[in-house]
Amino acid sequence: MGDLGHVWQSIVDLAIRHVRYGVKIEQYAFVGDVLLDTFKHILGDRFTPATREAWEALYAKIASTMIREAYGDYGIEPK
Ligand code: HEM
Repeated sequence: MGDLGHVWQSIVDLAIRHVRYGVKIEQYAFVGDVLLDTFKHILGDRFTPATREAWEALYAKIASTMIREAYGDYGIEPK
């Protein structure tokens, strides 16, 4: 997946707000799993493997960008 282009700054701002919400790094994986499980629950067979893969790739891209921008390359959370 390519770069996030013109939405990149919005994602950075969103990441900073999530630090203020008290979100922890490890919660990103959990929220991603729940999001995809919800899609499956609602869409059933219409949530095809290809669609799941596309959403997994998108979520991973956004979440990893948010984590890196909010916590830095070393993943250090504020005290
Ligand atoms: C790719 C990952 C995520 C995206 C795109 C996302 C997106 C959003 C958006 C658009 C909002 C609305 C408020 C705002 O714009 O600041 C929001 C609020 C919030 N998110 Fe996330 N989020 C993500 C991950 C997470 C994770 C991992 C958690 C951890 C539990 C979380 C917890 C929250 C909380 C607590 C709020 C504030 C709710 C409120 O008080 O109104 N988010 N998120």
